[in-house]
Amino acid sequence: MDYQKSHVIVLTYPAQGHINPLLQFAKRLASKGLKATLATTYYTVNSIDAPTVGVEPISDGFDEGGFKQASSLDVYLESFKTVGSRTLTELVFKFKASGSPVNCIVYDSMLPWALDVARNLGIHAAVFMTTSASICSMFWRIDLGLLSLPLKQQTATVSLPGLPPLGCCDLPSSMSEPTSQTAYLEAIMEKFHSLNEDDWVFCNSFEDLEIELVKAMRGKWPLVMVGPMVPSAYLDQQIDGDRAYGASLWKPTSSQCFTWLATKPPRSVIYVSFGSMENISAEQVEEIAWGLKASNRPFLWVLKESEKKLPAGFLNSVGETGMVVSWCNQLEVLAHQAIGCFVTHCGWNSTLEGLGLGVPMVCVTERSDQPMNAKFVEDVWKVGVRTKKDEVGIVTREELEKCIRGAMDGESGEEIKRNANKWRELARSAVSVGGTSDMNINEFVVKLQEEKK
Ligand code: UDX
Repeated sequence: MDYQKSHVIVLTYPAQGHINPLLQFAKRLASKGLKATLATTYYTVNSIDAPTVGVEPISDGFDEGGFKQASSLDVYLESFKTVGSRTLTELVFKFKASGSPVNCIVYDSMLPWALDVARNLGIHAAVFMTTSASICSMFWRIDLGLLSLPLKQQTATVSLPGLPPLGCCDLPSSMSEPTSQTAYLEAIMEKFHSLNEDDWVFCNSFEDLEIELVKAMRGKWPLVMVGPMVPSAYLDQQIDGDRAYGASLWKPTSSQCFTWLATKPPRSVIYVSFGSMENISAEQVEEIAWGLKASNRPFLWVLKESEKKLPAGFLNSVGETGMVVSWCNQLEVLAHQAIGCFVTHCGWNSTLEGLGLGVPMVCVTERSDQPMNAKFVEDVWKVGVRTKKDEVGIVTREELEKCIRGAMDGESGEEIKRNANKWRELARSAVSVGGTSDMNINEFVVKLQEEKK
């Protein structure tokens, strides 16, 4: 068969938790024979190292002539919309002129304006959701007027088709306290309002993971599950031998932590990380520190600015038992045989990584989609334990220690390990050849390729 390759631009919001899944999606498309180009802002392009995918800069309006900080998220998103629309359009024209025309833009749901760019250029548009399908279903209901905000003040429990009953502490903060996240909420609601105009709506999840929702929503909405977007080698797949995301906005202190991990017994180490946007109070850091020490197990903790945040004398008091780094290759750490538990903020990527690698989790959530992801970790997938906050919103050292023991020791620890192994297998089968996510990606690829014949 003789045809020109289809060419897809994958547009990502320039944050670690967005670049990782979108770059991974671009790599999957490339592994299936499409030409894929990741478009991201000028100051993030240099952090990307993915040989099978092209990388091209576009502008958010804050990166021409050196990086400048926006005064607020509203200002940033508005500028990104204006300048990004123009520079993304220019990029598509550039490819057309060079004989490699683009026939689809897959864009991050945080950048809803890319739909208009694709429509104006007469090419396909596909949105990519970086949160769970369950969260998406709630935004979808809000847009249809089936659910109104704020959710917290209405009833003690929110009951929705395909979801477990949600108490007020399980709700995404953008829905329970919408005034605290106006810019984010506006961007995401703009996206859900135009959902029917996209040619495809992809979600970084897999069908078995949210099966009750998949059943409840069948035929009602256009969501297509294509995840988990974790590099295939970590899911034991030989599809493309892909061993890393290929994007790191910070430099990992890798060799140090792997030398240290090699000295620890299998499944003994607690890995602690709160994602890329952590902003944990000094009080909370202190409780986590002493809670880890009390658990009496080795721990590896990712904490930026640890010198400023850790309690005085803490590192000396734990000695070789603990290691604190500012950034690491999280996937490689989670895949290490010494890791026995993941204390996580439950960002969606971290949740999928813990699940896909079969690591028991302890959830210490802050905001956004994290509380709802944690609800699923504990009550639906049963692969971890959720910490409770005290009356001033802190997870105490005693609570953390108790939850770590619950996730790692005794009968509860054994049950969590069994479930974690089960979900690891299900994640693997979703992305293996013939799995549900793999088939869903194939359908997209075949459709685009046929148009090029
Ligand atoms: C945020 C939201 O929390 C998340 O739910 C949303 O989907 C994307 O934006 P973030 O808070 O950064 O993301 O967390 P998470 O989604 O877990 O993403 C963090 C990524 O950084 C993960 O892929 C993780 O592997 C990576 N990471 C983190 C590292 O590579 N090294 C580290 O030291 C810490």
